[in-house]
Amino acid sequence: MNQIENVLHENRHFPPPPEFQAKARLSSEAAYQRMYRESIDQPDAFWGRIARELPWIEPFQKVLDWSNAPFAKWFVGGKLNVSAVCLDQHAYGVRAQKPAIIWEGEPGDSRTLSYGELHLEVCRFANVLKRRGLKKGDRAAIYMPMIPEAAIAMLACARIGVAHSVVFGGFSAQALRERIEDGACTAVITADGSFRRGSVLALKPQVDEAVKGLDAVHTVFVVRRAKNPIEWSKTRDVWVHEACAEASPECTPEPMDSEDLLFLLYTSGSTGRPKGIVHTTGGYIVGSYLSTQYVFDLREDDVYWCTADVGWVTGHSYIVYGPLANGATVVMYEGAPNTPHPGRMWEIVDKHKVTIFYTAPTAIRAFMKWGDEWPAKYSLATLRLLGTVGEPINPEAWIWYHKQIGHERCPIVDTWWQTETGSIMITPLPGVTSTTPGSATRPFFGVDAAVVDEAGKELGPNEGGYLVLRRPWPSMLRGIWGDEQRYRDNYWSKFKTMYFAGDGARRDEHGYLWILGRVDDVINVSGHRLSTMEVESALVSHAKVCEAAVVGRPDALTGQAICAFVTVDTGLEPDDRLKQELMEHVAKEIGKLARPAEIRFTDMLPKTRSGKIMRRLLRDIAAGIETVGDTSTLEDFSVLARLRDNEE
Ligand code: WT7
Repeated sequence: MNQIENVLHENRHFPPPPEFQAKARLSSEAAYQRMYRESIDQPDAFWGRIARELPWIEPFQKVLDWSNAPFAKWFVGGKLNVSAVCLDQHAYGVRAQKPAIIWEGEPGDSRTLSYGELHLEVCRFANVLKRRGLKKGDRAAIYMPMIPEAAIAMLACARIGVAHSVVFGGFSAQALRERIEDGACTAVITADGSFRRGSVLALKPQVDEAVKGLDAVHTVFVVRRAKNPIEWSKTRDVWVHEACAEASPECTPEPMDSEDLLFLLYTSGSTGRPKGIVHTTGGYIVGSYLSTQYVFDLREDDVYWCTADVGWVTGHSYIVYGPLANGATVVMYEGAPNTPHPGRMWEIVDKHKVTIFYTAPTAIRAFMKWGDEWPAKYSLATLRLLGTVGEPINPEAWIWYHKQIGHERCPIVDTWWQTETGSIMITPLPGVTSTTPGSATRPFFGVDAAVVDEAGKELGPNEGGYLVLRRPWPSMLRGIWGDEQRYRDNYWSKFKTMYFAGDGARRDEHGYLWILGRVDDVINVSGHRLSTMEVESALVSHAKVCEAAVVGRPDALTGQAICAFVTVDTGLEPDDRLKQELMEHVAKEIGKLARPAEIRFTDMLPKTRSGKIMRRLLRDIAAGIETVGDTSTLEDFSVLARLRDNEE
């Protein structure tokens, strides 16, 4: 049996703080069990009721059609418009004056858009898109900085039935071009530039290069932000501020079928070209609506800040669609987290009185590295809930977040999900679940998660295996754009009737799930399968270590040997003594088996732009071979050269 060993031992438990629990939307285990049981035993009743909380244009006839598995249809026959769900129901009611978006520019300028104002802006933008011929069934690429117009553009597309494909503004012209071509987009929405790390980062030149010779792209819509000089095509380019000034602020939302395409979002596969993940209308909005409400315990007066970029699914589901469907106030920030100083995030929390803060473990580790004095300078008293997403959070970072940011008062929700799942799948519910650092705890409503072995058989407590989801859920992907076979192969071929997420996991004796990382990253030392996450977590628990990435490299004796890439705290000069110390530390924490055979110090790890460590590249470096795979999503190319230079 090919199980993943379980070596991490974490015994700290944090029940929901009583003050939090007293006011929580869901505050008892019994209430949670009742809802969870209903979502599993009577999914039609459960999801039908939740979905009917949204303003449908035409009611759905059936909750789920799974007859053509693995292609699901949710809320069959229903018609609605996601922009109307996010705007009209609030703008025409009691939330007309309520802030929808509080935006902070990197230079310190800020803007607040009420639901009424956001509604008008979206309608104007939608009319501008229409006037250039965009219509239901088309696709538009969005290549934008973190400014309100990014959300406005997404909602304007949704309003007229144009599917958007948001491409992260940090991607190269080449990466953008591939995505425009793959999605057959006929327009691009961008900005002249934005402010990043104290200077202007131009965006329009990348778009010009990306669409060169692509005749299918008839229009490039340009939002003015940084006022940097740009080239202009009189026939192709449109200034959004000019066109919007003349556009009508009224635009009837297009009635969309529940299964009409809402957006494509590209995610990098482990090999080959990027995958365009397909998300449709009804199920996606129901999933993001419900999860935002319960996972973040959202209340009318919350000021909610998710620090992701709109270029990632987190930005789609938890900056734009989920929060706005709930009529929440969201904070959006344009710039770098340490510009002009490392306390920038906490300054924003203080300034805008943020109550809910959702970020990634990689960001938390950076905050730790910058020092405790930065959050200490600002009032974080309004915060009541913290969240993390994107990778396993090592207990060290969890505890720091809990103490330095949450002041031991805020529950932490460690949320597991994927671009493919559309919304949060495994998570604590903050008024109910007792949390434990490093575990995403239990499945969300309607989620039937299991840990299985190679043959698909469910494993017992603390046996590491493959994480699967055993039934369809409303916000699930409907496929990979233009590649049905790849969809089946990637997610539905390892276990025929279960969705395979690609992650390893174990369920502990309390029923809590622990994500062990991607199964492609598992290291096999003398027949013992070890999760990268657990070894990394042990390394980071050493006082001098800031971040660590471990990979396996071929070893004649043990099959694979553990090679660890380690960054140490600022100002420290790592030496051989520290290497020995770290090896012993891991051996002591989790056993001799996991003792790294090699440790390499580096000042930086290769990461994707969303902050995930690219272990695939480190594996090549550790094995001393050239990297052949796709490196287009790498954040900083120089890091590869530097890592190779460090070889001894
Ligand atoms: C992969 C999905 C979902 C939004 C951001 C990432 C890893 C995500 C967690 C977590 C452990 C996590 C998984 C997953 N992951 N959240 N809380 N604990 N691992 O979206 O780029 O589609 O990546 O991120 O490996 O499969 P994504």
